[in-house]
Amino acid sequence: IKTIGLMGAMDEEIALLLQVMEGNEEIKHAGVSFITGTLHNSKVVVCRSGVGKVNAAATTQILVDRFNVDAIWFTGVAGAVHPDLNIGDIVISSSCQQHDIDASPLGYEKGVIPYQEVSDYPADPRFVALAQEACALKCSDHHYIVGKVLSGDQFVADYHYVALLRETMNGACVEMEGAAVAQVCYMNQIPYVVLRSMSDKADGTADVNFAEFTVMASNRSYQIINEMLERL
Ligand code: ADE
Repeated sequence: IKTIGLMGAMDEEIALLLQVMEGNEEIKHAGVSFITGTLHNSKVVVCRSGVGKVNAAATTQILVDRFNVDAIWFTGVAGAVHPDLNIGDIVISSSCQQHDIDASPLGYEKGVIPYQEVSDYPADPRFVALAQEACALKCSDHHYIVGKVLSGDQFVADYHYVALLRETMNGACVEMEGAAVAQVCYMNQIPYVVLRSMSDKADGTADVNFAEFTVMASNRSYQIINEMLERL
């Protein structure tokens, strides 16, 4: 791998990456700042996409077209969906799928994109394994699981909807960008992985927990990404 795109959606999610990388040069495209430099001897481009699938998709395509990245790692926070997960725990993406695409009147299951072969985009197995190694070292005091990341243009704060995401879509966590990154990576044949630390449980208290735990969870996700870069 020559160049890795390191993405987050919010400032908190990329803050520590920006602090530790070297040789920072900032270039703007489509209103998004891309910062190029090196981190543990890897060439990296760090960016903050903004929230939601459209921002994530556009930013991913810019990383591919203008920065020639060979891989994309997404770091950030998510709402826990898997019952074993608590705030601060980690999900490594086995795959990513949109939970809010819905062409069910045409006979498609929820989450399935019509007229397309793939709607659930597998993460790169080497990066998943690398993330597992990093978690094994860094996550002694909390859980990490490999599972499906569900993405949609909604902040989920509803117990019943979380249950649905778990039972009908087999999700491990829910956030707002991963599947868009994954889909654009698939279209461009770029390997990716999404790493998320839980800021909340996507239930009735999600808004309060998100406000309280986003910085802690963002920093935890960063610790894993940092360890992955060291081990690359
Ligand atoms: N990111 C962090 N928590 C989330 C939630 N509950 N829903 C969507 N995205 C999130």
